[in-house]
Amino acid sequence: MDRDELILPDLQHLPAGFTWGVATSAFQIEGAADSRGESIWDVFCRRPGAIADGSNGLMACDHVNRLDSDLDLIASLGVDAYRFSIAWPRVQPDGFGAVSEQGLGFYDRLVDGLLARGLRPYATLYHWDLPQALQVRHGGWQGRDTANRFADYADLMSRRLGDRVASIATLNEPWVVAVLGHEQGIFAPGLRSRAVAMQASHHLMVGHGLAMQAIRANCKAEAGIVFNMSPIHSLTDSDADQAKARIDDGLINRWYMDAVHFGRYPQDVLEHLGADAPCVLAGDEALLSQAVDFIGVNYYTRSFSTTGDPWSAKKAGVAVTDMGWEIYPDGLTELLVRLHRDWNGPRLLVTENGAAFADQIVDGAVDDHPRVEYLATHLAAVNEAARQGVNIDGYFVWSLMDNFEWASGYRKRFGIVHVDYDTLKRTLKRSAHWYAALLQRQAEARRGAVLERRVGQTH
Ligand code: FCB
Repeated sequence: MDRDELILPDLQHLPAGFTWGVATSAFQIEGAADSRGESIWDVFCRRPGAIADGSNGLMACDHVNRLDSDLDLIASLGVDAYRFSIAWPRVQPDGFGAVSEQGLGFYDRLVDGLLARGLRPYATLYHWDLPQALQVRHGGWQGRDTANRFADYADLMSRRLGDRVASIATLNEPWVVAVLGHEQGIFAPGLRSRAVAMQASHHLMVGHGLAMQAIRANCKAEAGIVFNMSPIHSLTDSDADQAKARIDDGLINRWYMDAVHFGRYPQDVLEHLGADAPCVLAGDEALLSQAVDFIGVNYYTRSFSTTGDPWSAKKAGVAVTDMGWEIYPDGLTELLVRLHRDWNGPRLLVTENGAAFADQIVDGAVDDHPRVEYLATHLAAVNEAARQGVNIDGYFVWSLMDNFEWASGYRKRFGIVHVDYDTLKRTLKRSAHWYAALLQRQAEARRGAVLERRVGQTH
């Protein structure tokens, strides 16, 4: 632990009541696929070559069967909150019609188990595992009906869990769903059309708006949405690269932030898309721009734009994670400050931040010092944003434990807890011990501040 003591970041500008957590998603950890409906990711995993190691989510971390011990593990870290997602096909196997009491019961036990351990449940309704039956029936998010089915599902879940969860996010990373799933074809459902992707992105946002209405009608949990966002930097000073950077920023960042805040998409991006722009119906503006209580920010790295060779955008010699993503903590400050400035100070939470490294278990321990450094420097970046006046009050490490990293399969490890995929044994990595120590320090500082206030009041 000694080495890590040196990298306790300065966190003095984080607000009192800052929420500390860890995050996961259903498909990536749950397993127990025989007790749920099929999702588009189950189908995608069967496509030859789609997943780097040919794996799937049938067993994953077997979290469903290890719920209690996993909840103990989370509690042992000293976090305030746990961000998880609900597998839609587990609670409603086809995405419409019959619901599964067994599936709902699992999330009851998850939420009650968190509350019993003093942890706040942060639920995400959609982290990519669309019921396959909706892909067949409506063409998935290509079809507007899927947004209506999503609203019914949001209604079901907010009725069922709304009295006990602290927070509900409608969607996780609609850009990834739309673009990686429908334009680049590297994520489920594996389609390759820009027009389809942009239409899907609009239907996702319509689904978000309808779901917000259902959640608001049913419960008092805070509600919002989670976006993957990055600062987009121009690779060179050329006009062409700068123009490209502006459009890429429009496609990834402004598209979603403008939709939620103003109910419309940025005009320059619509013009750029031309015939690929989505069909938007009268009335959608109000739907998209339902007031949200928070914007979740998932941050991993920045990206570069160029009209030249896209590979040259990868700069030689910079430190990268095992995903090949540049380690760039300043980008998190830049992003948070910019979101605050350009969208009128929304309440922000970092709902995911973390890194994959090629961890090794040696004598039963994992010394993932690079991950400790990654987390510490990114937390310092959050503190710096808070110092500059950004309204930010939570941070969730991605991820609690190693898991199924989508198209990379089990080869990329993001956890602060190591999972041995032969035995499914969990082992806290050095980063987990470091995070726990950090949270303990924060809790002590918090108690100290309360005490000081009380002492102040009695004098
Ligand atoms: C995010 C996803 C999450 C995980 C991390 C590494 O885009 O939300 O499920 O895969 O990336």
